Amino acid sequence: MKTKHAIVFICIVALVIIEKESNILSRVSDKLIQRQTPQQTPQTPLDYNNTTQNGSLTMLKMLLSKLTGTSGNYSNLSEEDEKEEELDGLGSYSYSGGRKHILLLATTRTGSSFVGEFFNQGENMFYLFEPLWHVERMLTMAGEANNGTVLAGIYRDVLQALFLCDFSPLEKFISPPPQDHVTPALFRRESSVSLCEEPVCSPVIKDVFERFHCKTRRCGPLNLTLASESCLSKKHFAIKTVRVHQLEALRPLVEDPRLDVRVIQLVRDPRAILASRMVAFSSKYQTWKTWAQDGQVPEDDEEVKRLKGNCDHIRWSAEVGLSCPRWLRRRYMLVRYEDIARFPMQKAEEMYRFTGIPFSPQAREWILRNTQTTQEARGIYSTQKNSSEQAEKWRFSIPFTLAQVVQRVCGPTMKLFGYRFVDDEETLTNKSISLLEEKPFQSSNM
Ligand SMILES: *[C@@H]1O[C@H](CO)[C@@H](O)[C@H](O)[C@H]1NC(C)=O
Ligand SMILES: *[C@@H]1O[C@H](CO)[C@@H](O)[C@H](O)[C@H]1NC(C)=O
Ligand SMILES: *[C@@H]1O[C@H](CO)[C@@H](O)[C@H](O)[C@H]1NC(C)=O
Ligand SMILES: *[C@@H]1O[C@H](CO)[C@@H](O)[C@H](O)[C@H]1NC(C)=O
Ligand SMILES: *[C@@H]1O[C@H](CO)[C@@H](O)[C@H](O)[C@H]1NC(C)=O
Ligand SMILES: *[C@@H]1O[C@H](CO)[C@@H](O)[C@H](O)[C@H]1NC(C)=O
Ligand SMILES: *[C@@H]1O[C@H](CO)[C@@H](O)[C@H](O)[C@H]1NC(C)=O
Repeated sequence: MKTKHAIVFICIVALVIIEKESNILSRVSDKLIQRQTPQQTPQTPLDYNNTTQNGSLTMLKMLLSKLTGTSGNYSNLSEEDEKEEELDGLGSYSYSGGRKHILLLATTRTGSSFVGEFFNQGENMFYLFEPLWHVERMLTMAGEANNGTVLAGIYRDVLQALFLCDFSPLEKFISPPPQDHVTPALFRRESSVSLCEEPVCSPVIKDVFERFHCKTRRCGPLNLTLASESCLSKKHFAIKTVRVHQLEALRPLVEDPRLDVRVIQLVRDPRAILASRMVAFSSKYQTWKTWAQDGQVPEDDEEVKRLKGNCDHIRWSAEVGLSCPRWLRRRYMLVRYEDIARFPMQKAEEMYRFTGIPFSPQAREWILRNTQTTQEARGIYSTQKNSSEQAEKWRFSIPFTLAQVVQRVCGPTMKLFGYRFVDDEETLTNKSISLLEEKPFQSSNM
């Protein structure tokens, strides 16, 4: 805690000095200064007099936790107490009023938009797609994005406020700055069902040349006050992000007693990720293509180091999650993209069970429509992708040389997640050989 405050303090001093020269930085430092206000950094659960839960049981648990020195997750209560609490329908050890806060952690090209949609369905859900995009962009422009520790802290604080339906910290990172809390610039607003339905969508009809901000409706710019009201009115909240690289940095968020956080980490075969990125971001991956043609990959190249860094971060986070630390108990689940592709409905049900949110007919319907999981669906939606087949396509697009490089630098990560190595191109492209180990992750810590 002390180190964290010292870090924040140093940042503030640094930023205040540069502030005069840059508008952007002044807004960034506002954000950091905000973190110092007592409401933002509560020390114990007792600071939360006015939380959504009320009752002697809650009070007792707060006191217990204080006495035993844990802050907020009450995992030292006995197993019976847990059961009781579940029967009470209170969720586990938070004052969130049964509200669940789902954080879908992924990296790009792991199917996270697809999986995010599972939690974007049904009238109970409030879903945000990559809100941290704004934070990353502004900090990058301000030259402040290169310190991972500082970045992780800011991401966490923005997420924490969002989970409480407070958009104001995020607002400071939206560019151009919202006017009267209204912005036309929220990243991928149209990906969030709640932000495109009444009453958040204020219909505009007048100007045909105006840019509209939702796919299915003509909505005007987003009123963040309305967004926040909608958020409060929904039962559950899910956020998808590819920007959080250290699970550990989220600990204060997970331990916040106002929240009932469930983290789902979505991973994928790193060879498939590379193959997919080479297609999706073709020009950025030109060097890889050249290497593949030459058959030579300089392993001390920055690109290769970055790949290794990404793999290591994903693995470290998963190792933290799978090691079942107290603060994450029953709050972490690891899911492989490949398993979702093979058994979408089953995996979605598992994920919902883990979150404690009832699996809605709307979610089921969406999955059916988008995966062809049943015989009937196949007939009706014949143009839809066969997701299982899609998930294997990379085996034919990645040059074998590059697959080998990934195996070398991402080996431990692949082992942990159960992705089989290949020793020759024939195996890589032989579809009757599975590259997946069946691996039950004792991840949901049930
Ligand atoms: C990040 O910033 C903190 C505090 O400003 C500093 O202690 C730490 O060394 C920095 N880390 C890197 C990698 O620059
Ligand atoms: C909580 O309640 C106590 C007594 O009711 C009061 O003294 C204290 O200021 C309150 N704290 C907050 C953060 O509201
Ligand atoms: C906190 O709760 C008390 C009663 O429990 C109430 O009088 C007060 O208005 C509440 N404050 C806020 C900010 O909700
Ligand atoms: C808790 O709720 C009960 C009734 O549900 C009410 O009588 C009591 O005043 C509430 N206590 C607080 C601290 O809000
Ligand atoms: C945004 O919505 C709030 C809540 O309905 C309203 O009070 C406010 O006037 C709206 N802002 C603008 C600029 O329309
Ligand atoms: C999808 O493709 C896989 C692999 O070719 C096949 O085994 C599976 O039966 C297909 N599923 C559907 C629903 O078509
Ligand atoms: C693919 O692998 C299977 C099982 O190992 C093998 O029987 C088959 O001959 C292989 N196919 C080709 C084209 O190599």
